[in-house]
Amino acid sequence: MKTKLSVNINKVATLRNARGKNIPDLIHVAQIILQSNIQGVTVHPRPDKRHIRYKDVFQLKSLLKNYPDKELNIEGYPSPQFLKLIENTKPQQCTLVPDSPEVLTSNAGWNFVKNKNLLQTTVEKLRLQNIRSSLFLDPLSMDKKQYSALQDIQPDRIELYTESYAVNWNTPQQERILSLYKQCASRARSWNIQINAGHDLNQNNLFDLLKALPEIKEVSIGQALIAEALEDGLSTVIKKYLKIIDEAFCVHNS
Ligand code: PXP
Repeated sequence: MKTKLSVNINKVATLRNARGKNIPDLIHVAQIILQSNIQGVTVHPRPDKRHIRYKDVFQLKSLLKNYPDKELNIEGYPSPQFLKLIENTKPQQCTLVPDSPEVLTSNAGWNFVKNKNLLQTTVEKLRLQNIRSSLFLDPLSMDKKQYSALQDIQPDRIELYTESYAVNWNTPQQERILSLYKQCASRARSWNIQINAGHDLNQNNLFDLLKALPEIKEVSIGQALIAEALEDGLSTVIKKYLKIIDEAFCVHNS
């Protein structure tokens, strides 16, 4: 099966929130994304509401009713407030991350040993609601005990935290790092845990990752994709503004 793409739209909300109005309109942008040939949308509402807010998640869920073949993936730390949101919005997938509220972005995988009870209980709660669970995992910080705890927790999926891969991409370290990711994915698969991946993926480094790990079910990509969309779109939009200025000039000079 081909790897699915879930577009993370946090940064669209960051831009909107910078001015306190509704530009860009997150739901309109989500609609454009959903009309493209992608398979899902990802959001990561944080307690400080700096990008996606809980209200946005409800609106997105409602929009997604028009796109029954596309999935909503909600990421977050399993606080009672977050789990209530999940219960009320019922995404197809919930990706649990160990972030403390103040971090700029997810910057570590779970310590499965330390958080075994929390994760086991949460995965079970999600399963009872028919919501697929995915746990954020850094292959570079796994050892025998961590793997054993992961096997006991038995989530539906893990999401490989790809920052180390991205940092080492196209360097002499790339193959060594990729082999750690491959070992991790193959262990998880032997326990029937499926594989997602995300963080710092972009148009340069995605191909080599998927070539090495064709079993990746889904990649979720935000920062680079939105930045690349800006770069690719700017010259088209600037041409439109210049046309308006030309037309106004013609009115006065014809
Ligand atoms: N996966 C998780 C768990 C994340 O927290 C993020 C960032 O919100 C991503 C994937 C996407 O990372 P990026 O924005 O670098 O593509």
